Amino acid sequence: MAIYNLGSINADLFYQVPTLPGPGETLAARSMHRGLGGKGANMSVAAARAAALVSHIGAVGRDGTWAKQRLLEYGVDTRHIAVLEDAPTGHAVINVDDAGENAIVLLPGANHEITENAIGTALSESARGDTLLIQNETNNQRYAAQMGRDLAMYVAYAAAPFDAAAVQDVLPLLDFLILNEVEAQQLTDATGQPPQALPVADIVITLGGNGCRWINTIKRTQRDFPAHQVDVVDTTGAGDTFTGYLLAARDRGLPMEQAIALAMRAGALMVMRKGTADVIPDLKEVQNARF
Ligand code: RIB
Repeated sequence: MAIYNLGSINADLFYQVPTLPGPGETLAARSMHRGLGGKGANMSVAAARAAALVSHIGAVGRDGTWAKQRLLEYGVDTRHIAVLEDAPTGHAVINVDDAGENAIVLLPGANHEITENAIGTALSESARGDTLLIQNETNNQRYAAQMGRDLAMYVAYAAAPFDAAAVQDVLPLLDFLILNEVEAQQLTDATGQPPQALPVADIVITLGGNGCRWINTIKRTQRDFPAHQVDVVDTTGAGDTFTGYLLAARDRGLPMEQAIALAMRAGALMVMRKGTADVIPDLKEVQNARF
């Protein structure tokens, strides 16, 4: 089995600030560092570190060949990452405050230039039951989801950054949906239906420090998983790590309960670190962690 991830690739520019700046405010950062990020890239790295076969479908500009090379070094199949002449690599300006909270500004760049042809070429290599993962930082999400459905893939959508219209556009094509509690309420407001009534088999609602809830709409079951109590340094990329680990474990054949338990451990380790793709823990660290 394998995971095909249509996902963003960003240069992440981190600024450590005492508080997140408000409107009209100018703040001096205490430090700055850069690394590999993008919700898509973070999920690909997490899934690869969780021992899944991962093929990333995406695009960078000429200035982003380092990012493609780094994904390869992290064990991701990068053959379906285009290097474009006319678009810059996406980047994110990430302010992180002393409580570990963040505020992010994105330039999508090449992440919005992924062609239908590139998606088709990549997915033509997939097998029935492979996972197609999509988030909301690329173009052509609906096209990919439809193709994934047509190919009998397990179509998974991480609704981040959240946009109710974008979720609704792919909703009928999904097998798996992950979003947070506030977003779940926003989606309920937009559709007029609670998560339990959505046409998606597996729905995971993340609850921050309170863990997560897994809803299976076919068996009509619901189960809550508590979070590990850890000291939070930086929440950036923790949700992406959780999603990548969860889907990798499921793709490797673990039952959903075990996949979620593993993902909870990976997410807990991630909030204790600064950075994104470059610091995602590997499977050994996740399994051996003591909370
Ligand atoms: O979820 C964290 C990610 O959001 C960062 O890596 C940044 O690139 C933005 O996409």
